[in-house]
Amino acid sequence: MTVTPRSAGAPALAFFKDLRPPAGDFRTDVLEGLAKPQKAIPPKYFYDAEGSRIFDRITRAPEYYLTRTELTLLDRIGPELRALAGSGAVVLEPGAGSGVKVRKLIDALEAPAAYVGMDISGDHVKAACADIASDHQDMIIGAVCHDFTRPIDLDALPLPPGRRVVFFPGSTIGNFELIDARALLQTFRDWLRPGDGLLIGADLRKDARVLEAAYDDADGATADFNFNLVRRINTELDGTLDPEGLRYKAFWNPYRSRMEMYLSAVRDQRFTVSGRAFQLREHETIHTENSHKFTLDTFRDLSKSAGLAPKHAFTAPDGAFSIHWLERAGEA
Ligand code: AVI
Repeated sequence: MTVTPRSAGAPALAFFKDLRPPAGDFRTDVLEGLAKPQKAIPPKYFYDAEGSRIFDRITRAPEYYLTRTELTLLDRIGPELRALAGSGAVVLEPGAGSGVKVRKLIDALEAPAAYVGMDISGDHVKAACADIASDHQDMIIGAVCHDFTRPIDLDALPLPPGRRVVFFPGSTIGNFELIDARALLQTFRDWLRPGDGLLIGADLRKDARVLEAAYDDADGATADFNFNLVRRINTELDGTLDPEGLRYKAFWNPYRSRMEMYLSAVRDQRFTVSGRAFQLREHETIHTENSHKFTLDTFRDLSKSAGLAPKHAFTAPDGAFSIHWLERAGEA
């Protein structure tokens, strides 16, 4: 593995490591997904530069309670997190976002030694981490372009010693099928050594009307987020999907305890992607995303099944959202 050291004049990033996934992944995954009986596209492809901008809009929508609830909760539990993480922590953030949440964590901790943001978009993660570096010149700040569902050798990164805190906020874990969520938690568990912690956000089950509004906001940001996928397919994969023939739909599935998001055909359409022919029948859907909702117990059970020991759970006063501190199971 090669690591690019800091260069003169650049913002104070201690290192940038490029583990960019192969560009062919998007094409392969879309073609495979559209060939399934239930057409589906993996939600990680929402997040190109435009998709990330639209996602920021979603987080500000009045109906989307998740972000503001988690931010308020992070503020409230700062002293507990400081005690749990101890002095000199090394914070690792797979899927690093805009930096707003991790800044709260860093500010709560006692003399954190390092922060490493990881994201599938290299430009985004470099910029976000450089921003943090300019405000925290006493810390080692690195960035990694990486798809966190793929393996990574953390020992090849120039990390200082110190307790690792893996930070995975937002309830992004809920966007994975439960079997994949478990596998991802196992990956994070393998990043931890005795005494390290995984600090992870998990959205909680609630009234279906609240959930359906959160995932179909009146301003249409969530619908735009989905239509951005259509734009990506048409521009990057030479697709001919007609967005006018599609409608965004979101509904609560109580049996699987998740929100399910779809693009639904309003009429029959034939289209091609990278030269391959597909068709959609009227009312047929393309499944774009799930967002699982947990109880404290179902999330703890999922964590335990991945070899993680639930040590603390913090819940928002209105019971809307939870943040968990997990450690490797079987460690003191
Ligand atoms: C990133 N993730 C936690 C969001 C969620 O709430 O499941 C993605 C999202 N999709 C539509 N709205 C928000």
